[in-house]
Amino acid sequence: MSSDGTPLPGAVLDVWQANPEGHYDVQQPGVQPAGSGRGLFTADEEGRFWFRTCVPSPYPIPTDGPVGELLKATGRHPCRPAHILFIASAEGHTPVTTHARFDLVRNPARS
Ligand SMILES: [Fe+2]
Repeated sequence: MSSDGTPLPGAVLDVWQANPEGHYDVQQPGVQPAGSGRGLFTADEEGRFWFRTCVPSPYPIPTDGPVGELLKATGRHPCRPAHILFIASAEGHTPVTTHARFDLVRNPARS
């Protein structure tokens, strides 16, 4: 939907996520099929999307190189919370990149 709440039929939602073990498909060639955890969805005539997926897991980012230096300098840990990433785009609108995070501590599916 647009920023004013108007549905956007034909909008595209690009989705990608790690698997329940915290790995993306590109990190496990030969283990996960290419494209696993990824999808492109087109909104229906009412601007709706839907899909089913697994709950991803948190994972650590690499701590070597400049990212590791940044983490050390800012006192932050390397773990990212479980999340699914999205790019929503529609003709005439600026694409939006965002993510949804999961609170796995409170998620009954993970307890
Ligand atoms: Fe991620």
